[in-house]
Amino acid sequence: MKSIVILISGRGSNLQALLEAKLPCRVEAVICNRANAGGLAIAKAHDIPTAVVEHRNYTDRDSFDAALAKTIDSFSPDYVVLAGFMRILTPGFVARYHGKLTNIHPSLLPAYSGLNTHARALQDGVKIHGCTVHFVSADLDHGPIIIQAAVPVLQDDTEQTLAARVLHEEHRIYPQAIRWLCTGRIELSEQGRVVFKNIEQPGIPLISPCLE
Ligand code: GRF
Repeated sequence: MKSIVILISGRGSNLQALLEAKLPCRVEAVICNRANAGGLAIAKAHDIPTAVVEHRNYTDRDSFDAALAKTIDSFSPDYVVLAGFMRILTPGFVARYHGKLTNIHPSLLPAYSGLNTHARALQDGVKIHGCTVHFVSADLDHGPIIIQAAVPVLQDDTEQTLAARVLHEEHRIYPQAIRWLCTGRIELSEQGRVVFKNIEQPGIPLISPCLE
């Protein structure tokens, strides 16, 4: 059975979705860069070991990433799952976990990489928004895409209502992606593309607003 560690920075709702999904892998640890993150209690409630590597204790990104890598490697995981981990990682760190590092981002990448994705989508008036699980590359929020979920943007949406609609889908697609990864159904090719094995491709368009 494959093993993973999950990295968080905050409330941990994606962590919770991953833990409740009863994935076919061992969750060796939850690692966090903030000692007061709410998600640590979720890990403890599931009897998952936790470790804190406080980024504020390090003077630069290289030394923080080195300490983080040391902590990760002490659990010898097959995969490193970023679930709301809000630190930019150095190219050296990303290269060390090439093909083993995944992230979830609250937009349909490559649109809206970075922060405040829902506010920016509302501002632009897009009619379809969503979330993406991807392998991490050195380019922020731009690695090979594993799975995306699209949701409609409604006329009366606020940042909060749109975020909630997207988050609901995040909690569905991230466990699916990790399940595929841990059972060998997806892998990263040498050309940097995600190869899918026997995974159904839907042909259903999402049109928003609806046709009449
Ligand atoms: C999620 O929206 C995730 O896509 C983004 O950060 C947020 C983390 O939320 N990377 P949570 O801590 O999983 O609740």
